[in-house]
Amino acid sequence: MSESRADIKTFEDFREYSLWYLHDVGLDVPELLNAEYKVALAPAKSDVVEFGHYAGKAKFRGPEDLPTGHWNGRTYLEILANLVNIQGDTEFGSNEQQVGLWDSAPSDYDRKILLSVMNEEFRHGWQMAYVALNVLGGDEGRWVAQSLLERRSGVEDNARLLGAFNVPIKDWLGFYAFLEFMDRDGGSQLTLLQHSALEPLAQSMVFMLREEQKHLRSGQQGFERILQAGKMPVEVLQKYMNLYAPLGYDLHGGERSTNALIYFNLGLKGFYPSWTPYLDGPADAVIDAHLITDLREREKRPEDHSYQFVNLQLGGPARDINKELLNSITVSFYKRTLEEHFEKFNAIIRDVYPSGTPMLVLPSMRWNRAVPSIYAGESYDITGRLIENPEEFRDYREANLPSDADRARLQEVFALPDWIAPPETDVYRTLTAVKNSDQILFPTTFGGSRRSRYIQSLSALRREREASESAGAGPTKTKNVSLWQFMEDEAGAN
Ligand SMILES: [Fe+2]
Ligand SMILES: [Fe+2]
Repeated sequence: MSESRADIKTFEDFREYSLWYLHDVGLDVPELLNAEYKVALAPAKSDVVEFGHYAGKAKFRGPEDLPTGHWNGRTYLEILANLVNIQGDTEFGSNEQQVGLWDSAPSDYDRKILLSVMNEEFRHGWQMAYVALNVLGGDEGRWVAQSLLERRSGVEDNARLLGAFNVPIKDWLGFYAFLEFMDRDGGSQLTLLQHSALEPLAQSMVFMLREEQKHLRSGQQGFERILQAGKMPVEVLQKYMNLYAPLGYDLHGGERSTNALIYFNLGLKGFYPSWTPYLDGPADAVIDAHLITDLREREKRPEDHSYQFVNLQLGGPARDINKELLNSITVSFYKRTLEEHFEKFNAIIRDVYPSGTPMLVLPSMRWNRAVPSIYAGESYDITGRLIENPEEFRDYREANLPSDADRARLQEVFALPDWIAPPETDVYRTLTAVKNSDQILFPTTFGGSRRSRYIQSLSALRREREASESAGAGPTKTKNVSLWQFMEDEAGAN
């Protein structure tokens, strides 16, 4: 067996290491250090696996219950560890992206939203570390938990796992766009995972979703407030929509995805949202209009799109579609929610802006997509019209994404005292309450003066140690050795 990669062993170690993390990323503000953190498990929606090969069996409680076998070369436990790693990575990563916004908050209300979001994302990271350490366990679980605290948004060679979580959020328009588009994808993922076959993962998601709803609502409200103030040029806002909408679509994964099929078969991620009656209706009614047209067209000529032909089964009811298309359904629901928001945004524009102001357009799924989307590398405009000439497309794309000139204009808007209207309702009037049926583990308040036992990245420390050993210097104690490591050594000496 290979040597353990992880230095942390228990959730208590993780908790202590996460205090070091707060200091290391500059989130050691009293408001966060004095806040309460916990792992909260709420009752799962069902005791039995809800779909896939194991439907009807009791949900899995831990590694001993997991089916044996390999899927795309990975065990069930490895697939779960990967899902938990990615979900946890986004929770911590988003905090790092938002760290610079504190001082430029337009009002106390906005600062409260930022603080609440950071507090909850940090806690969501804990939830994922709990699943990794205390449910999956083993070296794999310990390594997932430790590395969640060691990767850093936008840091080369040590970046967060998904591209969208490595771009700094530079201003408050970006913040609200992030909540509306990126956190809303997070909402899609949590909604799916709350039906997962691993019961503690499902239980984790139920509580997280209650908090996540407020992030999404704050994002939508942010755009409403910006439009209500009437100071933001709508054409600049449109360019931000053009930037963020495809990133949000991309986060849902490829529209055709063998991973989605595997997750379905294993009972991890199913239909979205699996409790509505749409499953009996035709696939056309469920999948976005552009998307289903393109799926049908491409299925006729798979060789043109380098697909293996698989029957997508789009002719019958939605429940019978090929499960490779489950991401198509999830992203369609995501887009449908955004369509409703855009109607509201445009109603505000009609109210507040001079007549003739162009309405906001929610970009088509075909616009500006990246791998693994079926549209990656293709050239459509934001309404989904094909632009065949590459030069024409290059110019169009450049003209429709935020430019330096737009960012300069934004700085002028941000300098106005009333560029964002006060909220009509306080999304964070109350914090998400714990219910009697919830189980609370590891409740913690660090307190402003608490220092961590850890003073640097354990993996960096280990690399230094290994480098000095292989350079022939023999095992040495570096002067940066963490207190925790020091205590281990001391204990060993006794
Ligand atoms: Fe979250
Ligand atoms: Fe969130």
